[in-house]
Amino acid sequence: MNRYDNIMQAEQRPQWGQIGRRIALACCALSLLSACRGMPSKEPPVHLNRNMDTQDKYKPQRVSTLFEDGRAMRPQVEGTVGRELLETAYGVDIDGLDGDDRYLREDDAYWRGLDKQGDTVDSIPEPLKVDMALLERGKQRYNIYCTPCHGIAGYGNGPVKQRGNLPVPSYHDKYKRALTAGHIYGVISNGSKSGLMMGYKHQIPVKDRWAIVAYVRALQKSQMKGDQ
Ligand code: HEC
Repeated sequence: MNRYDNIMQAEQRPQWGQIGRRIALACCALSLLSACRGMPSKEPPVHLNRNMDTQDKYKPQRVSTLFEDGRAMRPQVEGTVGRELLETAYGVDIDGLDGDDRYLREDDAYWRGLDKQGDTVDSIPEPLKVDMALLERGKQRYNIYCTPCHGIAGYGNGPVKQRGNLPVPSYHDKYKRALTAGHIYGVISNGSKSGLMMGYKHQIPVKDRWAIVAYVRALQKSQMKGDQ
């Protein structure tokens, strides 16, 4: 045996230490994996780096020693204006509105077409004025949104009526003439009671709806010759 044989023998000998280490590692990996599958735990996960995941904060209705009145929830500052309310509470699209129109909606007559008793208003509410500009706007919007069913002159003979099977009424009988402005506004906003006509509140901003109401009224008046 020369000294090279010695070296060969040493290399071929099984290295038990290394095998042991590998088995231990495999066990470790297995035990880690087994904890992930099908074993939900009620314990919070180990959070090595919390970043800003958990922060000090007040929860609703809790006590605070910071404020004199002991309330964590602060009362609204006087004069606070509920801007969010417009869209979230009433679902009105504020895109077409400008200035203050975008914010408070306390004016029931203007926003909902209702008076203080909850009845529909009988005329176009303030601050709108029925002038040529409003009627022109109403005519334009009416021609876009309403003529397909109601027809150019409001006889309920638009193309949808002619080709479809939808019972579109005329504006020119005594029942439709008796509808209040607020009622027509309500129909444009939310659709008819039976649901045959859908509401247009998402397509037509409030001011334009009133402009259409004014124009429908004008259409009705234009067809009254001889009737009254
Ligand atoms: C897709 C067709 C269609 C379109 C578009 C349409 N309507 Fe109507 N409308 C109807 C039908 C159908 C009725 C009858 C509904 C019913 O009897 O319940 C109706 C009824 C009405 C009434 C009478 C409601 C009542 O209580 O008697 C008014 C007012 C009215 N529409 C106005 C409008 C205006 C203004 C527009 C445009 C913004 C418009 N409609 C767009 C189909 C339509």
